[in-house]
Amino acid sequence: MAISQLSLTDFRNLKSTTLDFDRRLNLITGDNGSGKTSLLEAVHVLCQGQSFRTAQLKECIRHDASGFLLFGRFERFKIGLAKSVRKVEIRVDGKVIHRRSDLVRKSPVNVVNADSFELINGAPARRRAFLDWCLFHVEPSYANDWRRYQHSLKQRNRLLKTRKDLNLLEYWDRDLFESSVKLGDMRRIYTIRLHDIVQEHYRELLTGIPLEIGYQQGWEEQETLLQCLANSRERDIRSGYTGVGVHRDDISMTTSNRKVGEVLSRGQSKRVCLALFMAVLKMVNDACGSTVVLLIDDLHSELDKKAQELVYREFAGMKIQLFISNIDNSVPAGIGAKEYKMFHVEHGIIKPRNFS
Ligand SMILES: Nc1ncnc2c1ncn2[C@@H]1O[C@H](COP(=O)(O)OP(=O)(O)OP(=O)(O)O)[C@@H](O)[C@H]1O
Ligand SMILES: [Mg+2]
Repeated sequence: MAISQLSLTDFRNLKSTTLDFDRRLNLITGDNGSGKTSLLEAVHVLCQGQSFRTAQLKECIRHDASGFLLFGRFERFKIGLAKSVRKVEIRVDGKVIHRRSDLVRKSPVNVVNADSFELINGAPARRRAFLDWCLFHVEPSYANDWRRYQHSLKQRNRLLKTRKDLNLLEYWDRDLFESSVKLGDMRRIYTIRLHDIVQEHYRELLTGIPLEIGYQQGWEEQETLLQCLANSRERDIRSGYTGVGVHRDDISMTTSNRKVGEVLSRGQSKRVCLALFMAVLKMVNDACGSTVVLLIDDLHSELDKKAQELVYREFAGMKIQLFISNIDNSVPAGIGAKEYKMFHVEHGIIKPRNFS
């Protein structure tokens, strides 16, 4: 759901302000340390109740202030978020909400920044989280299945750690197995889709990089998870941890049989990241029809002019609301002045730039 207006107070270094956004494209410029990432972060916190920079929301409170306030008008609802050092209160249309997942579903948001390279170079958890974000929004049952799996895993790990009631392991093996079947199937199906969409729609961005994307299940290919859990029981008791299951899944990304992280340049990696984001956004758009808010921090760095233009062109054809920050204030030639809004940030003060 697109955000039409944001009011903020005492968020990071940003001075109290109200901003009216474009439904499609918002460009944010400013020097290093001016507050560009902070503005993107404020949008993220409002939509998601969480920052992409810190797990401690209180770090976003402006130094010397007692809390921050965010208020956003979306197409069909309003969200208010008040954070003090000790607590956070989130209201949708004036009513307090208690589960963050209720907020997250209302306004899907995702971010592309320097950390996104971890999709390629980082640990499997980063890739699982990327795919899970998509599944959360396209498969209504996914959140419940995931919660059930986490519960079973926690119970099994508790037995392994305490080594008490080990006779219950069989019960939790079966429970874990049942909740993992659906998760694994969904991840497998959507990884194949991800691969196909990238190939079909975003090859130009990949400039001839042959990219193979595949699902790697977190247990032996030839066996069922139930068998694997039984086989690894002794080892798991020794380590106190469940060593197989969907919490060990990964998405493999290779180019000419080599891991992409080992061979691609920074710019090529960024192109791959952006193609992956475009593909999942397309899936979310197609499945739930809701406008996704996408924040891209420092789009232009590491991308040549041709890639920048391609990215603007591809995103322009999607049902998303974009917030793109850059140090330079160049706008690719293909974009007309009426198609975006531009904001300039200077020492925490954000000013809309008017081109008309
Ligand atoms: N809680 C806070 N209170 C006040 N200022 C803060 C807080 N957290 C960070 N800052 C400061 O806010 C400023 C803006 O940071 P931000 O990361 O938004 O800059 P930026 O415009 O994205 O810079 P760059 O181009 O280097 O990425 C920095 O000087 C930072 O030190
Ligand atoms: Mg920044």
